[in-house]
Amino acid sequence: MAQLIGIPKELYPGEKRVATVPDVVEKLCKLGFSVVVEAGAGEGATIGDDAYQAAGATIAPDAASVWAQADIVFKVRAPNADEVTRLREGQTLVSFIWAGQNPELLKAMAEKKATVISMDSVPRISRAQKLDALSSMANIGGYRAVIEAAHAFGRFFTGQITAAGKVPPAKVFVIGAGVAGLAAIGAASGLGAIVRANDTRPEVADQIKSLGGEFVPVDYVEEGSGVGGYAKVMSEGFQKAQRETFAKQAKEVDIIITTALIPGKPAPKLITAEMVQSMKPGSVIVDMAAEQGGNCELTEPGKIVTKYGVIIIGYADLPSRLPRQSSNLYATNLLRMTEELCKTKDGQINVNMEDEVLRGATVVKAGEVTWPPPAPKLSAAPAGSTPAKAAAAAPPAQKKGHGHGGGGEPASASKTAALFGVAAVLFLLIGAYAPAAFLGHFTVFVLACFVGYMVVWNVKPSLHTPLMSVTNAISSIIVIGALVQIAPPAVESVLGEGARPDALIRWLAVAGIALTAVNMFGGFAVTRRMLAMFRK
Ligand code: NAI
Repeated sequence: MAQLIGIPKELYPGEKRVATVPDVVEKLCKLGFSVVVEAGAGEGATIGDDAYQAAGATIAPDAASVWAQADIVFKVRAPNADEVTRLREGQTLVSFIWAGQNPELLKAMAEKKATVISMDSVPRISRAQKLDALSSMANIGGYRAVIEAAHAFGRFFTGQITAAGKVPPAKVFVIGAGVAGLAAIGAASGLGAIVRANDTRPEVADQIKSLGGEFVPVDYVEEGSGVGGYAKVMSEGFQKAQRETFAKQAKEVDIIITTALIPGKPAPKLITAEMVQSMKPGSVIVDMAAEQGGNCELTEPGKIVTKYGVIIIGYADLPSRLPRQSSNLYATNLLRMTEELCKTKDGQINVNMEDEVLRGATVVKAGEVTWPPPAPKLSAAPAGSTPAKAAAAAPPAQKKGHGHGGGGEPASASKTAALFGVAAVLFLLIGAYAPAAFLGHFTVFVLACFVGYMVVWNVKPSLHTPLMSVTNAISSIIVIGALVQIAPPAVESVLGEGARPDALIRWLAVAGIALTAVNMFGGFAVTRRMLAMFRK
């Protein structure tokens, strides 16, 4: 029988998100599940009960009946004490849990002999990106931080020259260029502001630039990447140099958006009271780390306060302030999680603890606390995040393999020598027995393969598509054959009587040239357009 997924209304004060949306209900039904939604669960996100019903869900009058019927419960916020009492043996709860901060909650849920899957514990590996709710919520939070800043700021973001006067563009400084920070950089530059950003992980400099920001470096050499591509606590020396850089920025910019977090640690204090005091009156600080203690000394979590004429926003519910968008994305993350849980598509979940993603996310399994999970095998760090030192120390062949997303162990020098030896012997044998004409063509073929291999191997994978289109254009050089065919009569004086082909072949050659021209000019045009996407 199909298992029933239940969606209770969120109880956390002010929470507007809901764990599923009508589009996703349809897809859950296609996976074989039935869905029951508490009446009014979607109100905060402006989704009516009728929309859920139209998508195939049934509506339950209250939370008690949802919890009582459902085999699987989907939630946004971790359950409160009342909700925990409703959990029952054999039931599965999928929600944000924040296991590290809530050991008591874990114990209480384990006592109920339930299974709990925590969306904030999904390992941040490539395969799990589609169910990474931390990223989807951080993305919305970053965007909303800019909207909050724009709302509180008394001026335009974009610069303007009007009859009534000249308006300079707002200057925005983003601290921490993780998922939220990058979203904030994109949104602020989209609104026309001048955006600067800093992060302790130097590899994000390119990402900042690609979103229209400028990387502000700290004048102190220290590697900022910690375990799994996250940040680490920096040395005293670095922190001092960073404070000096930030103090300078605080005097210059109008808006500061801070997103700096270090997993498992309180948020680093990066904006001091003096820096706030040095900002222009009317400036705005949005402290996205407010819930973890705040990056600014004067932040009051959950509140908006004005200190020294600077508006400091410490909202801890930024994704919930875009409830429709965040409910949509979160519901999709949950759908992807359900697909992982129900590979058989028969409306029955299987919490397979052998699966790396499910193991990482499962914090309670049938009454047993299974958090923390063993460390994931893969790093969350992007490919380019290898410390510079390590890259410099690696032999050239290894660096090339790295650029290609891992090409296995590089061949050792002796292996390469042996390979060349074998190739030389083969070549000698072919030379001794093959006809002379074949040998010439064969040499050209081998050299072409070698040059082609070297060219393609040294091109970044992201540039492979433009490379293909340009190769396509260049390969149209075969047009030379057709050009020879339509050569003027004079060709006979050079190539001899009868060298000029008859009319039919010449017309075929003309058609061939026309078609090849499309390939040639089209190929170059497509390459140009594609390369333009990489230029800023
Ligand atoms: P986060 O929310 O833990 O931290 C936000 C940012 O603050 C980070 O970029 C961090 O480097 C920065 N930061 C920390 N201390 C700082 C300081 N003192 N000064 C300046 N900046 C400071 O990070 P988030 O957004 O969760 O992402 C962290 C990493 O995880 C990134 O490398 C990201 O690319 C990676 N990631 C990987 C995913 C995957 O593979 N599925 C999904 C999402 C993120």
